[in-house]
Amino acid sequence: MANTDGDRGDIRKLRLGEIERYGEHLLRLDADSRRLRFGMGVGDGFITDYARRINDMQSVVYGFFVGEEIHAAAELRPLTGALPVEAEAAFSVEKAYQDTGIGTELLGRVIRTARTRGITRLYMNCLAENRKMQRVARKFDAVLHFEDGDVVGELAPAVPNYFSIWREAMDDERGFVMGVLDLQKKFLPAA
Ligand SMILES: CC(C)(COP(=O)(O)OP(=O)(O)OC[C@H]1O[C@@H](n2cnc3c(N)ncnc32)[C@H](O)[C@@H]1OP(=O)(O)O)[C@@H](O)C(=O)NCCC(=O)NCCS
Repeated sequence: MANTDGDRGDIRKLRLGEIERYGEHLLRLDADSRRLRFGMGVGDGFITDYARRINDMQSVVYGFFVGEEIHAAAELRPLTGALPVEAEAAFSVEKAYQDTGIGTELLGRVIRTARTRGITRLYMNCLAENRKMQRVARKFDAVLHFEDGDVVGELAPAVPNYFSIWREAMDDERGFVMGVLDLQKKFLPAA
């Protein structure tokens, strides 16, 4: 499981002004990871444009931060409607950080967030060859089925309850505290 105690990195929601860091992370993905993430090979221009439009898509983005840099991320994007009950999730972990539990940790966060937002169906589009993503999804009892040659991981998070709302609030609070600590490290003179 990912170490989110601050030794190696920390997972938290992106704050305003951090979308640029997210774009930098996506640009660092190697060609194969880009193809698996976006379902096709994409160039730098596509990624830059994609990151620029994140706010318009109303996505919640979690980042795995090492210092100020993001090396893995998860996006939860509501699908249509004023009160959407369906959402799409997408994941990206830079090669050097893969297979260390970060993707699993990110999917756990996304499911919790989906629950608190009343999302009842979560889609994870991934290519049929993407055994790693399927393995991660199966850890959360996702039901996988084939659709037009792609694998769609479909899972129904439970309805929100006080515990899930509290957990997400705690995650956010912790992210804020870590942010404050980081700022202190940056701006306060060494003791
Ligand atoms: C898919 C991805 C998000 C997974 O994140 P990750 O941090 O590498 O995943 P984790 O370390 O949490 O878990 C990986 C699991 O897959 C297993 N695995 C690794 N290679 C595998 C393979 N070829 N076949 C099956 N399982 C495999 C690992 O053993 C691990 O399972 P375990 O925890 O039971 O040992 C990440 O690898 C990635 O970003 N890939 C490129 C982009 C992508 O595919 N995005 C998903 C589509 S939206």
